[in-house]
Amino acid sequence: MDAFNVKKISYAYKNGKKAADEVSFSVKKGESLTIIGTNGSGKSTLLYLLNGLLTPESGDIEIFGRNITGNFPPELRQRISLLFQNPHAQLFLLSVWDELCLGPLQLGLEKNEIQKRTEELLGLLNIKHLRDRGPWDLSGGEMRKVAFGTCLSVNPDVLLLDEPTTGLDPRSQVEFVDLINELRRAGKTIVTATHDLGIIEDISDRTMVIGEDHRLLTEGNPWDVMEDTDMLLRANLIHRHVHRHCWYAHEHSHFGTHGHEHIQVENKQPQVESQAIKEAIIAMTELDKLKKLLEYWSEHNEEHAKTYLEWAEKAAASGDKELSAVLKEIAENTKKMDGLFEKAKKAVRK
Ligand SMILES: Nc1ncnc2c1ncn2[C@@H]1O[C@H](COP(=O)(O)OP(=O)(O)OP(=O)(O)O)[C@@H](O)[C@H]1O
Ligand SMILES: [Mg+2]
Repeated sequence: MDAFNVKKISYAYKNGKKAADEVSFSVKKGESLTIIGTNGSGKSTLLYLLNGLLTPESGDIEIFGRNITGNFPPELRQRISLLFQNPHAQLFLLSVWDELCLGPLQLGLEKNEIQKRTEELLGLLNIKHLRDRGPWDLSGGEMRKVAFGTCLSVNPDVLLLDEPTTGLDPRSQVEFVDLINELRRAGKTIVTATHDLGIIEDISDRTMVIGEDHRLLTEGNPWDVMEDTDMLLRANLIHRHVHRHCWYAHEHSHFGTHGHEHIQVENKQPQVESQAIKEAIIAMTELDKLKKLLEYWSEHNEEHAKTYLEWAEKAAASGDKELSAVLKEIAENTKKMDGLFEKAKKAVRK
């Protein structure tokens, strides 16, 4: 059974700002879906639409087989918990303990049961030491853990998590991943909006990418999505970045949020310069170095021209004709350098 079946939903905020454009997808019961996309692509908005905080302008949403468009049944609210991107939106009581007790109190659970559940949650989230603290005095990461605790406190069937790892230290991130996987094993349906590309393979069965135009760009298993470098570049989720390694510029595609995932554009270059490589480079003549550099420069010239053109198109789409024209000119001039590089390569071989 589908937990969510979303058909062509669109939404614009009151100021006319479009945030979702004919987005369709489904989430099976017990499935974990991650939603990725750049800032402002509409991830949070999609989560608000899924939990009934917002109503789509057009299209339909079915939750557990019921069409909820414009009529969100209160009993479904109890089954779906949303972790807000900004934990301030979620916490308003005087102590962490009170925050974690509130949901179960509203469900009408027995006092003993509430106390037991809250103790367990404090342990599960490693926040026992925060129980008597005021939620407003906590650090960003601590606040997020407490906010996550309030979601779990009602034992929901569905968790909608908006940037859950923002502000978490490395150990807490690992603990979070473990906890999500425990929740998956317990059969929970989980939808996570995240910029943290490093966790999507660890926490999800499927990933969907929202483009800057607020439309669904692609979806698939996280491994395939993460390997589609061209698509990730188009979605602006990774960027090209130039490093200086030893003696020549070395270009990678970088994932936006963490610097470890180097996809090498130049695949013959080792990622780490060992002592032996350094020595080999020192032993090279200046001419050999130039030959190498020319190969490298000419190989990447085309890539650069393509990137300038892509940005020219983006500038045109956003109405900036002047910038678009200059970027196009840069792209054309860059392209012309292909011929010059070829000439230089021939000349250096003589
Ligand atoms: N309350 C609002 N009023 C008007 N426009 C809004 C409002 N909230 C969001 N928007 C706009 O809607 C679009 C989608 O915003 P949304 O917060 O859903 O994006 P997001 O993908 O979650 O971004 P981020 O990665 O920064 O969290 C953006 O252009 C944003 O400026
Ligand atoms: Mg958001």
